[in-house]
Amino acid sequence: MNGFAHALSLDESGDLPLFLRIARAVRDDVRRGRLLPGAALPGSRTLATQLGVHRNTVLAAFRELAAEGWIETRPAGGTYVSGDIPRELPRRLAKAATRAGFSLPAAPSPRPPEPPPNTFVLAAGTPDLRLVPRDLVARAYRRALRSAPLGYVPPEGHPRLRTALTEMLAELRGLTFDRDALLVTRGAQAALDLTARVLLDGHPGAAVAVEALGYRPAWQAFRAAGARLVPVPVDEHGLAVDALAEIEGLRAVYLTPHHQYPTTVTLSPARRLALLALARARRFAIVEDDYDFEFHYEGRPVLPLASDDQSGNVIYVGTLAKILAPALRLGFLAGPAPFVAHATALRIAIDRQGDPALELAVAELLEDGELQRHVRRVRRAYRERRDALLAALDRHLEGTLVARKPPGGMAAWAEVRGVDAETLVAAAAREGVSFLPGRAYAFDGRARPFVRLGYASLDPSELDEAMRRVARGLGRRR
Ligand SMILES: Cc1ncc(COP(=O)(O)O)c(C=O)c1O
Repeated sequence: MNGFAHALSLDESGDLPLFLRIARAVRDDVRRGRLLPGAALPGSRTLATQLGVHRNTVLAAFRELAAEGWIETRPAGGTYVSGDIPRELPRRLAKAATRAGFSLPAAPSPRPPEPPPNTFVLAAGTPDLRLVPRDLVARAYRRALRSAPLGYVPPEGHPRLRTALTEMLAELRGLTFDRDALLVTRGAQAALDLTARVLLDGHPGAAVAVEALGYRPAWQAFRAAGARLVPVPVDEHGLAVDALAEIEGLRAVYLTPHHQYPTTVTLSPARRLALLALARARRFAIVEDDYDFEFHYEGRPVLPLASDDQSGNVIYVGTLAKILAPALRLGFLAGPAPFVAHATALRIAIDRQGDPALELAVAELLEDGELQRHVRRVRRAYRERRDALLAALDRHLEGTLVARKPPGGMAAWAEVRGVDAETLVAAAAREGVSFLPGRAYAFDGRARPFVRLGYASLDPSELDEAMRRVARGLGRRR
């Protein structure tokens, strides 16, 4: 019974006599399954020493437990958890816990299964984790851990990271926010969740427009906050801004204007101006998800809507998931100061703050230019991969999978011809290649003759092999 005394936690409060508190602690441990039926208890002398009580107190507790049938003494000596009644208890408790004793909303939809191991996963937006500069991050984190405050810190994020991010956004994206307008969050998802909650506070059931082909986790955040989602079509110029004018009581629009998710198109200059003007006139918020802002390969990147916002309508959301790693959970939001103040106050009620050491570490990587060097390296790699994917499509799937060259980002949106997208995805899966059909991105859940092929996480030879397998799965050998 090593460790028993450590595990046995005596209730410090209340007026119960000590022997009853010991009895209760043993009983609770049996109930929780921490002490199993038939397990030996320490002798009364040992336990008395461990607990720092008189032996008679322990004996009195044992007498109490025996009288209630929780423990038994065996003729050969020794005290044991009773083999009878309590044997049932842990199982009964576990069974009860599988059902809630209160009402719940409809069951959440099941998560899609993980692709089996050794699959080529053309994930929609995951960077190549093999390229994550682990040593660099580890060294910076180790350094930061020595000096970062480890208590409760201001919820806005480490001031040095806020400064470094605002400088990066000014340089790369033409944004002129000052540091106070930026809140560091645990990933873009947390930024979207905060945004949704602030916007829907006091406006339950308000309309929020989303791209009819779009990013489901953002929809879920708005839905959870009580929004009524209104899908708006997307075409080769991006979101159909005209359609917004018809939505009554529009509170916000969520969109991915840079490389539309999942179709990769860029919002046209005319629509961008129209959207900003409409938001100003109708007083709704534009939630701009600039999720892959650093990856643009052709000419100059189009600057975010937020860089043109004169009227305080745009809430700008970004993530470091793509330039560093998704698991670090670092993202941010920036917008009109009163909005950011609301989001910050709300954050305290949710997860309070971020990880100051991690935030300081990443601030240092930005200040030293290390992260920028890493981004330049992976940008070159992803551009090469984009071209390799398109070449592999031509080589193995010409006429079946047809993709326009995406100007940036980490994925291509390929039209499926001569076979339906679901059949293609299933054939690919049988050959150990995983990607999602258009349906997975559709608000209406209806099939679309497209698939989204994430090319960033596989190298050129893997991309070629993956597309060769897809062709083989369709019975097209070359
Ligand atoms: C459209 C979009 N927004 C946001 C994110 C990133 O979110 P997070 O920072 O929560 O990982 C992704 C990642 O895949 C994305 O595709």
